[in-house]
Amino acid sequence: MRGIVRTGPGDPADVLTFSDRLTPPRPGPGQVAVSMCATAIHAGDLLGVREGWAAPDPARPAGVGSAGSGTVQSVGQGVTGVAPGDRVAFFGAAGAWQEVVLAPAAHVHRVPDALPDDVAALALVNPLTMRMLMRAVDHHGGGAAGADGPILHAAAGSAVGTLVSAAADRHDLSLIALVRSADTAARHRARWPKVPVITTSADGWEKRLDEAIGGRPVRVALDPVGGPVSRAMLDRLGEGGTLLSYGRLDSRPSGFEPFDLVRRQRAAVGVSIEQWAGLDDATRADDVAFALDLVAARPDLAEIAGHYDLAEHAVAVAHARRPDRTGTVLLTRRP
Ligand SMILES: NC(=O)c1ccc[n+]([C@@H]2O[C@H](COP(=O)([O-])OP(=O)(O)OC[C@H]3O[C@@H](n4cnc5c(N)ncnc54)[C@H](OP(=O)(O)O)[C@@H]3O)[C@@H](O)[C@H]2O)c1
Repeated sequence: MRGIVRTGPGDPADVLTFSDRLTPPRPGPGQVAVSMCATAIHAGDLLGVREGWAAPDPARPAGVGSAGSGTVQSVGQGVTGVAPGDRVAFFGAAGAWQEVVLAPAAHVHRVPDALPDDVAALALVNPLTMRMLMRAVDHHGGGAAGADGPILHAAAGSAVGTLVSAAADRHDLSLIALVRSADTAARHRARWPKVPVITTSADGWEKRLDEAIGGRPVRVALDPVGGPVSRAMLDRLGEGGTLLSYGRLDSRPSGFEPFDLVRRQRAAVGVSIEQWAGLDDATRADDVAFALDLVAARPDLAEIAGHYDLAEHAVAVAHARRPDRTGTVLLTRRP
């Protein structure tokens, strides 16, 4: 079997390697073996390699990649939701960048016949993350009901950020978008003309952020970036405001201390798709139906940056790390 494995923690360019001699995995209880069609290179996958996060399945510590689409090959004991031959999308796999992938059954979902494999590969992780984030925004007082201040939203041009912007637009939430590059800022303004956009690579961006806030209380800041952007957003939270951290695109330190939360009784809370499995059955079913409908109806919200064969992983990863990229890079099985 062909696939990518990691040889240790470190820069993905140094520690990822292609092999055509991997042993195809067999599903254990509660697991599904999927013959992969397309698999995404997500920011979190690369972060996990760099930081040496343990793979979710200790039996497959060298596995890389977490989400994609394919056809069910076989199922383990106790699996009832999907059967061999079903076309599915999956996430939470310990090693999705390989021809046969093992995923927990709770994270494997049938997809409609009309949904192309590459769109199906992007159907779950980002839309489900967006749903988790919007619930957290609501929970922490930033939702429409009673909110009188803007939500700060970093990396607003990312794939997840685009979904959050679309949701905020639909529900008439007041956002201030922080993006890094001038090109992304221009794209964002063209797409959502009512949303103020702050370019964090430009001199004086913090002053422009203050002007956009205009003294209104900031209840929530969505932060997938870290570093100085985190700090700037934390400093602008109003009384009892919450920084929702969900990623770390910037590896620089943010320079904030727990004691910084004491003034104005602010909070910093982590949000992760890993928490999704703990939601009740009805909510999860509703989320999956929503996600599949969304990518079918709005393929512009699941943009694909490029397709690469598994053996081209080094070029694919370099593409995924390019600052001018838009959309998500996919690895595909050899035709
Ligand atoms: N917690 C979870 O469960 C979860 C799930 C999914 C995603 N995430 C996180 O969500 C974030 C976005 O993921 P994605 O897949 O949507 O990413 P993506 O589409 O690959 O993100 C690309 C965007 O990120 C911005 N960016 C990249 N590096 C940056 C940096 N150092 N500083 C500021 N902006 C930077 C780029 O801005 P410019 O174009 O302006 O350069 C670009 O618009 C990541 O942090 C990811 O780990 C978390």
